[in-house]
This record gives sequence, structure tokens and C-alpha cells, in this order.
Amino acid sequence: MAVVWWIVSAVTSALILIYLAFFWKINWIKDLTENDAKRSWLNKRLGDGKSGGGSRNKNRKVGHLPPVYPNGWFALLESSHLKRGEAKHISALGQNFAVFRTQKGTVSVLDAYCPHLGANMGEGGRVRGDCLECPFHGWLFRGADGRCQDIPYSDKVPEFAKTKAWDCCEVNQLIFVWHHAENAKPSWRPQALGEISDGRWRYHGRNEFIVNSHIQEIPENGADWAHLSAVHGPSILLSERVPWLARHSWTGAEWTSHVSPPQERTMAKEEEAGKAQAEEECGAEVDNAPETDPNISRENVAGTGKFENGGGKISKDKTASGNKSHKAIMRLRHSLILFERIPILELDVRAEQIGPGYVELLVQSSMGPMCILQTVTPLEPLMQRVTHLMFAPPLLAPLATLVLFGESVMFERDVAVWNHKRFEQRPLLVREDRSILAYRRWYAQFYSPHSPTYQSTTRSLQW
Ligand code: FES
Ligand SMILES: [Fe+2]
Repeated sequence: MAVVWWIVSAVTSALILIYLAFFWKINWIKDLTENDAKRSWLNKRLGDGKSGGGSRNKNRKVGHLPPVYPNGWFALLESSHLKRGEAKHISALGQNFAVFRTQKGTVSVLDAYCPHLGANMGEGGRVRGDCLECPFHGWLFRGADGRCQDIPYSDKVPEFAKTKAWDCCEVNQLIFVWHHAENAKPSWRPQALGEISDGRWRYHGRNEFIVNSHIQEIPENGADWAHLSAVHGPSILLSERVPWLARHSWTGAEWTSHVSPPQERTMAKEEEAGKAQAEEECGAEVDNAPETDPNISRENVAGTGKFENGGGKISKDKTASGNKSHKAIMRLRHSLILFERIPILELDVRAEQIGPGYVELLVQSSMGPMCILQTVTPLEPLMQRVTHLMFAPPLLAPLATLVLFGESVMFERDVAVWNHKRFEQRPLLVREDRSILAYRRWYAQFYSPHSPTYQSTTRSLQW
């Protein structure tokens, strides 16, 4: 009898483990603006659990900020979060959007506030055919162009009866909206990944974080290779006090932007190029000693002086040129080192930053490739929603879950820093930090003369 009991227990346990490994999906959601920040590993290490989250710390300095809403495509929703016939209200980028999906599956984005008497069509609006019906008096607005199609109690629909229809697209199981401060039409679009759109790679989980910081801080992480060992070195499971037992190793970090020579710069190339050439290329003093001269050339560093509306010094919006300048690539290699000598979990990461708020991370493991899609969307001037979606071949489900778990823990460590730091307009850099300068110069292309600033958004209560 005891043998039968053991067999049943073993089989049941094995089935549960197989189910968890292949079918359980992580849904890791953290609003770190409040008390959750206290639980963070890095906050404990910094002894910063007492001051609370970034939004509650009234003494927090924000620094001199670039504009708060860059130009580009931003994810409003994941496709699975908008059913057929459903409408939702999303507040982001200083705007209120009514996002809806028709019964045929087409997604449209309209201004949420009805031009008639201001009802929010994302809250209780009904989808009728390819239109959205306002819940207040039943005016019917077409998703494609925002034109009013019907006013239930009027014989005529005036020509001027319409609302704004936003450019949107649904790619890689994400719904994006195009935001441009000059009302320019999209000059590029996120591209579908074949493995995701044809179903070869399956969805294996997600995480979502609310971060108190300027949007530019988050992708800057990719160019800031020096933080990798400090923040992401300690093992995700063991204490940082026993690095000899297990630690994460990050090597081969390289950041490259898709810009024309001679602006193209990579960490690897610059290491070889030497100090003199680097100074000539980036216009900043580079030395092993920290920068101490306040008059150092900062033309390539984002700063308040460059971003004043109408100031004439703003970087040209290169996205209109139709080239690939809206892309940048970061590469690095990860290993988990056991007992200071045994490397396991070796992963080659190639992260392609596509515009100001979307990244495709291709992770190559010894068992096969997988992909993490990162979205960063400003909900408020200094509040970002960041999501990561994991896609991989079905048989890689256990490894994909493990990698997403590790990525979630690692990202939470970054959030603990972002939630409390200020934006450093004139960073004190050493020679090895120079890819940060290149990154800031690249990112400046997403600002234009009328990009909303922190001052303009807070003055007009646009958030
Ligand atoms: S407020 Fe929308 S129809 Fe009246
Ligand atoms: Fe990081």
C-alpha cells in the first residue's frame, strides 16, 4: 500500500512540475512608487527603505529635464487586453485616448473626450461596426478618421462634427499610438517579428512596472554598461554577501546607434580609437580622471538649454528622414558564475531600441533563441509604465520562464535606482562612460520644438 502511495505521489508531483514548467506564465506586476520600493533588494542595500517611493518624496530633486513626451510610437495596451467589441480609456503622453476593437478585430484610437459635451468615450463607449458610440447622447464616431456618422436625435450630421483619430498600429501583440509634438505623420513603424506573428514563438509571460523617472533614464541603461556589475552582479537568488557562491557576469557590452558616419560610435570601437579620436568625435573631454571642468564641451549631452521651446538649438528630428536613425543596438553576454569558476546559463543578448519607447531583446541561449519585448510609455511627465513580454518556442517554455523571472528581479533593481535619482543634465563622466554621451545625442532626435516640457505640462495641468 505504501508503495502505491509513493508512486501516486511521484506521478502527481511530476505532472504538476511539467504543468508549471510548460504552461504557467509569469505575470509580475509591481507599482514601485509606493511601499513596494521598500522591499527592493537595492533599496535595502542603499538603506533607503525609510523615505518611501519617489512620488511621495517631496524633497526629491528632478534635475534639469529634457522634454517629457518624446516623438514616436508608444504602446498603449497589449493586444490580449482589448477584446473584440471592447473600448478602453488610456491616459498617457498628456492625452486621453479611447482605444477600441471592432468585431472584425480592427483597433482604432480616438480622442477620449467627445467633442459634443465632453463625455469620455473610453469609459462606457459602445463599439458599433467600425465606429465608437458615445455613452452620453449616442453620437457615433468612425475609428478610421474620427468623423461623426450619426447623431441619433438630429436629421443632419454637420461636416465639422468629428474628433481626432490617432495613428495607431497593432504589431507583435502590442497596440501602439503615434505621438508627435509637431503633428507630423509617422515616418517609421514597429515591424512585425515573423516568429511571433506566425505563431512559431508563443507568449510565456510578462511583467509590468510603474517607474518614477524621466523616460530617457530607462533606455539609457542600455548604454550604461558600468552599472551592470554593480546592480546586476549579485545573484538573483542568493545574498550579495556570497558572490563566490554565485554571481552574474556581464561581458562584451557594446552600444551602437544607426546613424551615419562619422557619428557612429560603439563601445568596442571607442576602446580601440583612443582618447584623442574619441575627443574629436564626441566633442567631450574624455580622460580616466573624472570631469571637473564646468566649461567642458557638452554639445552632445541633453540639457535644458537645448530643449527650450523655440530655442533654435534643438536637435533636428531625424525620424522624418526615413532612415534607420530611430534604431540603436546594445549587445552583451551573460553568464551565471558558480564557485567563481563554473559558468552556466550563458546568454547572448542583442537589444534593438526602436524609437524612444520600444525595445526588442533577442536572447540567444544554448537551447535556442527567445525574445523579450520591452515597452516604455509615459503615463505622466515623470511616471513611466514599463512592460516586458516574453516569447519563445513552445519547448523552451521552462527556460523562458526562468529568464523572465531573472529579468524581472534584475529590472526591479534598476527601478529602485530610477525611483530616487535625479536626471543629471551635466553628468560627471569618465572615459569609459562615453557611450552615455552617444546615447543622449541619439535620443535627442525624438524631441522637437513643441515637445512638451515638464514646466509646460505642469503649468497647464496636462497630466
Ligand atoms: S457628450 Fe458625447 S454624444 Fe454628447
Ligand atoms: Fe540595468
